Amino acid sequence: MIGKAHPFFPYLKAMLEAAHLARGIHAYYLEKGFTQGTKSGPTDLVTQADREAEEAIKALLLERFPEAGFLGEEGGSEGGKEVRFIVDPLDGTVNYAHGFPFYGVSLALEVEGKVQVGVVMDTSRGEAFYAVRGEGAYLNGRPIRVTERKELLGSLLATGFPYDVAQDPENLVYFGRALKRGLLVRRPGAAALDLAYVAAGRLEGFWEVKLNPWDVAAGWLLVEEAGGRVTDLEGKPYRLGHRYIVATNGWIHQALLEALLRD
Ligand code: IPD
Ligand code: CA
Ligand code: CA
Ligand code: CA
Repeated sequence: MIGKAHPFFPYLKAMLEAAHLARGIHAYYLEKGFTQGTKSGPTDLVTQADREAEEAIKALLLERFPEAGFLGEEGGSEGGKEVRFIVDPLDGTVNYAHGFPFYGVSLALEVEGKVQVGVVMDTSRGEAFYAVRGEGAYLNGRPIRVTERKELLGSLLATGFPYDVAQDPENLVYFGRALKRGLLVRRPGAAALDLAYVAAGRLEGFWEVKLNPWDVAAGWLLVEEAGGRVTDLEGKPYRLGHRYIVATNGWIHQALLEALLRD
């Protein structure tokens, strides 16, 4: 467990509270029904639950930490950059809108450009994955680790696609290569949870193209704190804003990069 004396403990505590708040909002609108609209195109959905969860999270976190900045998918960015929260209030909106139970909320705390705390909650199952830099990764209070599987063939992998895949089609090529090699690939539909699953040893690896900071900031820390590796497609250390993210248990990393890059 992460001790109460840790300087980031108050942040972790508030972020877990905010994740529970989001869970309540997701559940409420799923039960009651929600209005929905589109953003960049007909399949890029946004619901009342996305917007209200973001407002509630932002209000809670900025009330506790008024000096912090905030970057959320639905509201854009605001306030200071030294300390800021990076939040996806509902990751997996398409799944949520269909009642397909693989969606959640992602919250990261970034301090001077470095993610220090990450929380990803599967709000349909109530699983809270979290990590503090240097303190390991946890699922509902229990330590989690990446797997030790060393063979790429037989590893379970996940990926995802941007809503505008026709404009950014490169993952169709990587996905095709992976399938042609007989690799086991899923497309679960919530990037933050995909990363949390790598951290928890439920997947050996995940890659995607064109994700946003709110999709990956928390999950990236989870994977590293669980003993995994996160890079771009060339194997360089991952940075927020990179176009490609590859996250694995470490053992299969090089083989996955090669499989994606070569026919
Ligand atoms: C999306 C999900 C999906 C990924 C998309 C993201 P949203 O986030 O994480 O798995 O493939 O690229 O945009 O819109 O559901 O928060
Ligand atoms: Ca979205
Ligand atoms: Ca997202
Ligand atoms: Ca979202």
